Amino acid sequence: MSFEMWAEKYRPKSLNQMVNQKYIVERLESFAKARNVPHCIFAGPPGTGKTTAALCLARDLYGKAYRENLMELNASDERGINVVRATVKTFARVRTLGEIPFKILILDEADNMTGDAQQALRRTMERYTETCRFVLIANYSGKIIEPIQSRCAPFRFTYLSKEEQEVHIKYIAEKEKVDLTEDGVNAIYDVCRGDLRRAINSLQAAASLGKPITSETVYAVVGHAHPADVRAMMKIAMDGNFVEARKRLREMILKFGVAGSDLIKQVHRELFRLDIPESWKVNLAEIVGDVDFRLVEGADEEVQLSALLARLTESSAKLKGG
Ligand SMILES: Nc1ncnc2c1ncn2[C@@H]1O[C@H](COP(=O)(O)OP(=O)(O)O)[C@@H](O)[C@H]1O
Ligand SMILES: [Mg+2]
Repeated sequence: MSFEMWAEKYRPKSLNQMVNQKYIVERLESFAKARNVPHCIFAGPPGTGKTTAALCLARDLYGKAYRENLMELNASDERGINVVRATVKTFARVRTLGEIPFKILILDEADNMTGDAQQALRRTMERYTETCRFVLIANYSGKIIEPIQSRCAPFRFTYLSKEEQEVHIKYIAEKEKVDLTEDGVNAIYDVCRGDLRRAINSLQAAASLGKPITSETVYAVVGHAHPADVRAMMKIAMDGNFVEARKRLREMILKFGVAGSDLIKQVHRELFRLDIPESWKVNLAEIVGDVDFRLVEGADEEVQLSALLARLTESSAKLKGG
């Protein structure tokens, strides 16, 4: 049996198959139709379709011959700008067979290039504009130098909405014949928040357990504690039962292999869902922030999380006392 990544298997092959990013897709489709493409910057968070959109654009432009007209490089590759230069030179030397006079170079993680490398890139872009169009991909366009930004058409990708993610996840589940419960769909969104790559990978990991996908299976495969468990732990601590809360904490760490930093984020999120006065939330959020900071500084996770529970117990006793 072959193992195939669903994120690849279900990667759109044409711009019209992309999920949302509607405004972006429309503009790219107009480029494909006009058979002309400017240099572009695709900026935005991971798993939102930047690489996919660039590949789809190339396919829509060149049809079957897209492979010969497209090159994908990663800027954070150690050889960096030299590889880019060499590739572009080869591109320029070999004329295209089709009617489109330029090829496309996708440069991923362009925001990781140093300022000097970006200056060199800018000169290369200018020199070979006739034969090569660049699609620069970045998480933050702000890290790209101004002279490059001003030569590129900007495209800002955003996380998919809850609904868009859900529709897509359900579609894949149906195609793969996996039993996905509504509660499982919600859990995938809770963990992935519109990062579609992560959502599809989580779905596949959960499906590999070979049973219906529920919130339990989702949180287990992604190494997150179940929000209900986190909430229960916090309630127990705030009810004054520190020892029991600490036991729950250990269970979560051992059972799910939850990372301390993830657990802190979950505690923070649940804090605002608790049915307690606003003023308590402010007070407790400060404590959570403290512990988060210490974890970042490299303190022991379990000790710090225990200390967090102790402080939850302590301060809620104080708050209750008036
Ligand atoms: N807008 C989208 N429409 C359809 N599929 C998407 C979209 N965004 C992401 N995906 C899915 O997630 C995977 C990763 O997307 P990718 O384009 O590589 O993300 P990025 O480059 O923004 O990190 C793709 O293989 C595809 O299955
Ligand atoms: Mg990408």
